[in-house]
Amino acid sequence: MIVLIGSHKGGVGKSTVLINLLMCLKLKTGKRIAVLECDEQRSVKMWLDERRERGIAPDVDYFECYTNIPDTVRRLASKYDLLLLDAPGSKSPEFRKCLAVADKFISLVDPTAQIEINTLGELVVDVRQAQAAINPGLEALIVMNRCPTHPGDQDASTFRKMMNDDPDWLPVARQRLFSRTAYKRAYNDGVSVHEYSDKSGNKARAEIELLATELNLYSV
Ligand SMILES: Nc1ncnc2c1ncn2[C@@H]1O[C@H](COP(=O)(O)OP(=O)(O)O)[C@@H](O)[C@H]1O
Ligand SMILES: [Mg+2]
Repeated sequence: MIVLIGSHKGGVGKSTVLINLLMCLKLKTGKRIAVLECDEQRSVKMWLDERRERGIAPDVDYFECYTNIPDTVRRLASKYDLLLLDAPGSKSPEFRKCLAVADKFISLVDPTAQIEINTLGELVVDVRQAQAAINPGLEALIVMNRCPTHPGDQDASTFRKMMNDDPDWLPVARQRLFSRTAYKRAYNDGVSVHEYSDKSGNKARAEIELLATELNLYSV
C-alpha cells in the first residue's frame, strides 16, 4: 500500500506524523515498510541522520526522489508492504505526482487555525482531479493535528462536523492528534513517540496507535 501524507501548506505536521506512524507500525508489526522523501526539505532524512548518529535501532529503509516520482514509487511499492510518501507542503507538481500513484492520501490540519483551513479548498480540487483523471481508487481524508488539549475546546468537533456534513469536502478522521511536546522532543532525539516515554509521550503513543487502526494501516 502507498500512503501519501501531504498538504498545500508547510508546517502542518506531515513529517512528524509520518515518522510516528512509521515507527509505530515498524515496532508493532513485522511489515516491510519504507519511506520515500519527495520534499527537498528532507525533514525525515534529518531525523534519520540523528537516529543513525546516536546508533538507535531499528534503522529505517529510506529513499529520496524529486523527479521521476511515479516510476520510483511503483518500483518501491512492489518491494514493500507499506510505502510512506512525504510530499512538499505546496501546490507542487511533485505533490500531484504523488497523488496520482497513492492508494491513500492523508492531509493534516489544525482545526483552530483558519490559515490552514483556508488551504483545503484547493487541496480538494487537486484530489478530485487526481481521482477523476488518473487515480479513481485514491482514498483521501483529513486528520486533525495539533489540537488543543484543553478539555473545553470545541473547535475540533465543530470542524469535523462541518466537513463531514458536506460530501464536497474530504472526510475527517475520528481520531485526532493533540499538540504535545513529545512530538517535538522525540524528533529532536531521533526517535518516535513510541520510543519516548514520559507522560506526554504515552498520550501521543496512544493517539498514534488509534489513528493507525482507524486508517487500517495494521492490515496492509
Ligand atoms: N501534534 C503535534 N504536537 C506538537 N507539535 C507538533 C505536532 N505536529 C507537528 N508539530 C511541530 O510542528 C512543526 C512542523 O511540523 P513538520 O512535521 O515539520 O510539518 P510539515 O512536514 O508539514 O512541514 C514542527 O516543529 C513539529 O515538531
Ligand atoms: Mg515536512
